[in-house]
Amino acid sequence: MSSFQPVLSRRQALTLGATAATLAAVPALAAPTSLAALARDKGLYFGSAVGAGPVGSLTGSFEDAAYRKILADECGVLVPENELKWYVVRAAGPQSFAFERADRIAAFAKANGQALRGHTLLWHHPQWFPAWIKTYDFGAGPARTANAQAMLVQHIDTVCKRYPQMISWDVVNETVDPADGAIRRTVFSDILGQHETLDLAFHTARAAAPKARLVYNDYMSWEVGNEKHRYGVLKLLEGFRKRGTPVDALGVQSHIGAENADSFTGFGRPQEKEWRAFVDEATGMGYDLLITEFDVHDKGLPYDFAPRDAAVAAYAKGYLDLMLSYRQTKEVLAWGMVDKYSWLQNQWLREDKKPKRPTLYDDAYQPKPLREAVAAALRAAPVR
Ligand code: XIL
Repeated sequence: MSSFQPVLSRRQALTLGATAATLAAVPALAAPTSLAALARDKGLYFGSAVGAGPVGSLTGSFEDAAYRKILADECGVLVPENELKWYVVRAAGPQSFAFERADRIAAFAKANGQALRGHTLLWHHPQWFPAWIKTYDFGAGPARTANAQAMLVQHIDTVCKRYPQMISWDVVNETVDPADGAIRRTVFSDILGQHETLDLAFHTARAAAPKARLVYNDYMSWEVGNEKHRYGVLKLLEGFRKRGTPVDALGVQSHIGAENADSFTGFGRPQEKEWRAFVDEATGMGYDLLITEFDVHDKGLPYDFAPRDAAVAAYAKGYLDLMLSYRQTKEVLAWGMVDKYSWLQNQWLREDKKPKRPTLYDDAYQPKPLREAVAAALRAAPVR
């Protein structure tokens, strides 16, 4: 043992003590606080979607170490962006289940002490099934019904049981057609019936994932022209309640700001009343809420970064304040955390054809005003 013992004068000790006291008081204020921690303080989860690597048109964000660090630092929950969809898991045909890609994300989340949420067991939209299903022979007569039921049940049961850690599942995604508010038709609903298909999905998920929050997820919004979509979703939610279908929450995708017509005046003032009425109806039926795919489209905003980022942040803050004022809102998921990996780069291009800035971090992995807006909304949210 070293004989060296530092001996402090009383004055030195007092100064040190005072400094220590100051330091002890400061970190809580000055230390960068992750969004995961800010959310946790309020009884919420904050996290993001992430794609597991370059396959076809899928994003490759998960390959990027700097991106993984942002995910590890900021997120309390991760959701595979595409890796659990039928067109990935069941790509090779009716007998196959491919889990390698989702497994990588699950392993990463586990290593970082993060929760996982699932998207999606039944994207009930004809466009989003693997091609083989369109020509699959379900048989004839009663066997046809039994085979369609068996395929749907086997899928949901197998995927849920592979990931028992899921805190929530988007069981059914986007089944309401915004054009008329009707339930979309798919191979399953053509054989089993529309409500029967959706109810079977939820009942199967409840049995296979008894601990997960079961979610109906969709992109209805407050915008003018979206009335039928909102109405269709409420009708669907009402039907679930009447039939006793086990649905716990409404997932509000929250790809907000499409045209940004009202970005400079704060969150959708002209339509805020309509949106609150919609959310009140859903929560009034006893549904929890999740923000499942948050990003802010800057298509209609000027090129200059400073005003663009400021407008995006202001728009988002108004929206998040509203949504988080509902104690029913339990999770906030960004649909990607770095601009270059956003799905919005590939569609609905800006007029100037320049990259968009719809996420919390820029392409140099630096936080943008949108990150601060999310943090501020989390800080301002009531505890739930
Ligand atoms: C998107 C992904 O981000 C893209 O990478 C993919 O090519 C298509 O799907 N609503 C949803 C999500 O429910 O699954 C979608 O994700 C975005 C819109």
